[in-house]
Amino acid sequence: MKRTLGVCYYPEHWPEPQWAEDAARMAALGLTWVRVGEFAWSRLEPTPGKLEFDWLDRAIETLGRAGLKVVLGTPTATPPRWMLDRHPDMLAHDREGRPRGFGSRRHYDFAHEGYRAECARIVQLLARRYGKNAHVAAWQTDNEYACHGTVLSYSPAALKAFRNWLAQRYQSPEALNRAWGNVFWSMEYAGFDDVGLPNLTVTEANPAHVMAFRHFASDMVVEFNRVQTEIIRRHSPYPIAHNYMGQITDFDHFAVGADLDIASWDAYPLGFLSDRLSASPEHKRRFVRQGDPDFQAFHHDLYRAVGRGRWWIMEQQPGPVNWAPWNPDPLPGMARLWAWEAFAHGAEAVCYFRWRQAPFAQEQMHAGLLRPDSVAAPAYGEAAQVARELAMMPDQNTTRAEVGLVFDYASAWAWETQPQGRDFSYFRLVFETYRALRRLGLNIDILPPDCADLSAYKLVLAPGVATLSDGFLTALTRHKGLSLLGPRTNAKTADFAIPVPLPPNLPGLAATVARVESLPPDVAVDLPLGGTFCHWREKVETTAKVVETTADSWPALIRADGLHYLAGWLDEAGFARILDALCLEAGLETEHLPEGLRRRDSATHRFQFNYNSFAVEWHGREIPAAGVDWQPL
Ligand code: GAL
Repeated sequence: MKRTLGVCYYPEHWPEPQWAEDAARMAALGLTWVRVGEFAWSRLEPTPGKLEFDWLDRAIETLGRAGLKVVLGTPTATPPRWMLDRHPDMLAHDREGRPRGFGSRRHYDFAHEGYRAECARIVQLLARRYGKNAHVAAWQTDNEYACHGTVLSYSPAALKAFRNWLAQRYQSPEALNRAWGNVFWSMEYAGFDDVGLPNLTVTEANPAHVMAFRHFASDMVVEFNRVQTEIIRRHSPYPIAHNYMGQITDFDHFAVGADLDIASWDAYPLGFLSDRLSASPEHKRRFVRQGDPDFQAFHHDLYRAVGRGRWWIMEQQPGPVNWAPWNPDPLPGMARLWAWEAFAHGAEAVCYFRWRQAPFAQEQMHAGLLRPDSVAAPAYGEAAQVARELAMMPDQNTTRAEVGLVFDYASAWAWETQPQGRDFSYFRLVFETYRALRRLGLNIDILPPDCADLSAYKLVLAPGVATLSDGFLTALTRHKGLSLLGPRTNAKTADFAIPVPLPPNLPGLAATVARVESLPPDVAVDLPLGGTFCHWREKVETTAKVVETTADSWPALIRADGLHYLAGWLDEAGFARILDALCLEAGLETEHLPEGLRRRDSATHRFQFNYNSFAVEWHGREIPAAGVDWQPL
C-alpha cells in the first residue's frame, strides 16, 4: 500500500482568502490528507438550529480542488456555549463532585442522554451533507476520547446511567451484593437506586464497586462513539477513525475500535517523555529532544491491533508542544524519523499537527509546520523530505511479527483500583516487557486479551492480565510455541475477588501463588543468574519444573512444556537474559541493539532508527544522529 502524509487544518481560524494559498502549499509539499472540522461546532451552528455550513462547503471545495483529500471530524468534543443553556446538567463532574465547566473543551458527560441526542443531530446533518462529497474521504469521530481525564465522571447523569447499567448486569441487588462481597462492612444494598458512585466515600470504596464503575465508564465511551458511527454509516461509504492518545487506558480501545474502520493516534514523543513516561532522569535527559525510543513503537503496535490492521497517525508532533511540563525543540531529523517509524510499523498515513501555529488562545505556544507568520517552520522541510522519499519508495506492507504481547485495558483498571504497591502500574509492566523485546531487535504484535488464535506466534507474553478470558486460555492450550505469563496473571475473578483455587490456574501448570509481596523502589530481590525482581514478586508452590529460583530460594520461573510462569517483575538485566533464552529456544533470532538504536521490519525492508543525538555504526552502516536507515530484506 502507498503510504501518505497529511496535516490538521482549521479553516475557521484563518481568513477565507488565505485558504486557497494554504491548500496550494499543502499540495506542493506532497501532502495527501487534511483533517478539518473537529472543533468547529460554534461556527457550524452559532445559535441553536441556525446552521451555517456554507463556509465548510467552500473550505472542503478549496482543499479538494487543490488535490487534497479531507478527513472530516465530528465537532462533538467542543459543544458551543448555548448547549449548556439547553442542557445545564450535561457537564462531567470531577471526583470531588464539582462540575467541569465551559471555557476549554471536552465539557460533556459521555452518559448524558440529552447531549448524546444533540451529537446525533449534528452528526446526522454533517453525514447527510458530506457523506458522499467527492473531496471527503474519511471521518473522525469526536476528538481524543479521555483527553483531560474526562472518562470518569461523577455527575447525576453518570449516576443514573450507572444504576441502569448495574441493573442490567446483575438483575437483582442480591446478586450484586453477592458478587461484590457487600456483606463486608455491611455495604449491602436493598435496591439499585441505593448504589452510589464510588467517590466521596470515607475510605476506599469496595474495589468490586470501583471496577464495575470502570467497566461502565468504558461502556459509555463505546456507546457514545457508536451513536456517531451508526449515523455516519447510513450516509457515507468512507472509513471512520477516531484519534486515540498515548498511554491512555481509561476506556477499552478494542471495544471502541470494533465500531471503527481505522485506529489512529496522536503522537507527541517529546510531550510524552516529559509528561508521562516513568524513566530515570538520565534516560529522560538523553532522549529529551528525541522522545523515548520505544514509546511511539509501542503505540504503533497497539493501535495496529485496535484497528485490526488499519491505523494512522492523526496528529504528529512537529516542534515544541505547549502542554508538557517542559517543551524542548526536537532534534533536526526527528519529524522525519517519527514519520518513518510509523510507516515501518504499518501506518497508512501520518498527519502533522498542525498546519500553521495559532497566535491566539490555548495553543499559541504549540509549533506547526508553519510559523504564525506563515514562514516554514523546521518540520516543514522534513515533511517535504518524507514526501519525496515516499514517492521513491516501493509500497510498504506490514509484516506479521513472531512475538505476541497481550494488552488488556481492564487489567489497567484492576491494578489502579488495587495496586497493592504504590508504583504497580499495568501499563508500565507491559511497556517494560515490550522495551525488553525491542532491545533484542524483535518485531512485536500486540494482541487483544481475547485473542483466540496464537498459532502465528513463536512466543506469546501476557504479564499482569487480571482475568484471562476463556478464549485466550483455550488458545493457550492449543499453542505450539512458547509462552510467558505472570506476574499477577489470572489473579482476580471477573467480579474482582481472589479466585479459589488460587491463581494462576493455567492449563497444565501445577502451581499456586501462595503469597504475594510488593517492594519499595529501593528494594529488589536478586536472581542468581542475573538481574532482579523489583516492584512485585510471588511465592509459588509448584510441582512443575522450576527453571530458576531467587537468591532466597523462591521459584522465580517455572514451566510445563512451553508454558512459563514468571513469579515477579523483572528489571532490565533480568528481562534481557530470560527473554534471550526463551527466544533462542523458540527459534527467534535476537541481537542486543546499541542503546537508542531500534529497528522494525516491513514486509520488504529492514528499518533502523537512531534515537541518539550522535551517529551510530551498526553492521557496517552508519546511521546518523536522529536518522533513519533502511535496506531491502
Ligand atoms: C492533542 C489534541 C489537539 C491538540 C494537540 C496539541 O491532544 O487532539 O487538538 O490539542 O493535542 O498537542
